[in-house]
Amino acid sequence: MPSNRVVREAENLRRVGCPFYTEDPVLKCLKIQSYTQRTMRATINPLTPHNAGVDRVPLRSYTRLTMRPATAEAIIDLTQLRRNFSIVRQKVGPKLKILFPIKADGYGHGAVMLGRAAQQAGLDYLGVANAGEAVELRQAGITLPILILSSSLASHAAELVRAEVDVTVSTPHMAQTLNAEAGKLGKKVRVQVKVDTGMGRNGALPDQVLPLFRLFRQLPNLIPQGIFSHFAVSYSESNEDQAYTHWQMEIFNQLLKDLDREGLLPPLRHIANSSGFIQYYDEVTTGFYNLVRPGILFYGYPEVRRPWTQEIKPILSVRTWIVSINELPTGSYIGYGRHYRTATNQKIATLPLGYADGLSWLLANKGEVALHGKLARLVGSVSMDQITVDISHIPEAKVGDEVEIVGPHMPAEEVARRMGANFTEVVLTALSKRVARVYAE
Ligand SMILES: Cc1ncc(COP(=O)(O)O)c(C=O)c1O
Repeated sequence: MPSNRVVREAENLRRVGCPFYTEDPVLKCLKIQSYTQRTMRATINPLTPHNAGVDRVPLRSYTRLTMRPATAEAIIDLTQLRRNFSIVRQKVGPKLKILFPIKADGYGHGAVMLGRAAQQAGLDYLGVANAGEAVELRQAGITLPILILSSSLASHAAELVRAEVDVTVSTPHMAQTLNAEAGKLGKKVRVQVKVDTGMGRNGALPDQVLPLFRLFRQLPNLIPQGIFSHFAVSYSESNEDQAYTHWQMEIFNQLLKDLDREGLLPPLRHIANSSGFIQYYDEVTTGFYNLVRPGILFYGYPEVRRPWTQEIKPILSVRTWIVSINELPTGSYIGYGRHYRTATNQKIATLPLGYADGLSWLLANKGEVALHGKLARLVGSVSMDQITVDISHIPEAKVGDEVEIVGPHMPAEEVARRMGANFTEVVLTALSKRVARVYAE
């Protein structure tokens, strides 16, 4: 009999129609037919839209494909994701559109699966960072409108037109290049103008916006679809930062009025990320605004809390299994650099994940994991593929036991706090591809 874990993984594979351990475009099109403890039978699924991206690869039939065992898993709770969707949808109301940012591989959770879930849940738009991310979603058969949230290289213009995405445009050069490439392909391309109202990163400066929209009138292959801006400190509740956020909104609102006066207002107008949506709800959902872009909120982390955000919960947990246990006598050094020495006889468990999986070496002697409902401290440095934890106070622990790296006992924010870092950076998007993504219903 296959173990429960293998059964669950195989069910996952069967349901999504593609194995999660592979980057191979052909393997991604597999339809799982049956599985045993170590192998599975699978064939190319002729119906899957993934085939759109693999037409140049010979379609083979795979049988008895060995499942690659993972030593750490990120479990993504799709039921909780749908709960988060519906809480936010209720708060947004039926009139505004919702864009779900799934850049950086869905903040590390896996963009394709999240994109599919968003499409099924009736969300309106997806947001990514660049052409490559958009193409991956299109190849996976996702048809929702996609906005590239950042500036793109003009050399990617043809690819962007082909991918049928909304391209962020902030310069006349990009507008003209897109118009020309779309013309060559006999297509139209939707564009959204990003305005820099105070982030100082990318986007047209406010006085460049009207000229850009006037230029669009002369570029017949462009469809002006939207205008948007991005907050720099909407998560902050300090008076100074709130004043700054209001100042950003004033600049943007003035521009919207000016565009309206000239009859140039595009269909979509938006400014709110998660914390902007929570903290400035009234301002960013009324007037000209008709779309919001909450990212981190959907992943389950309201950076600003309100009563309605209470039931929004993280969708990610990370786990591994004890691979060995040693009783080390007093005075033993542990790990590279001898950064930890046992003060008494200590029971040390080795876990098969390290910084190559996304666990920062800054957690050395600071991080904790959870097993048998108790916390256990990381002792010694974090290696590329292994960490060591002190389990002297957990006598029942044994090789093979499941260990929570991130989850209810050790939330992502707490892991990051111990490093003095931001959890989106050091936990979510840090998870490497060696950590298998498992999608749970
Ligand atoms: C333009 C834009 N909109 C929305 C978001 C989502 O932000 P958050 O995850 O804080 O909601 C991002 C993410 O950085 C972004 O770059």
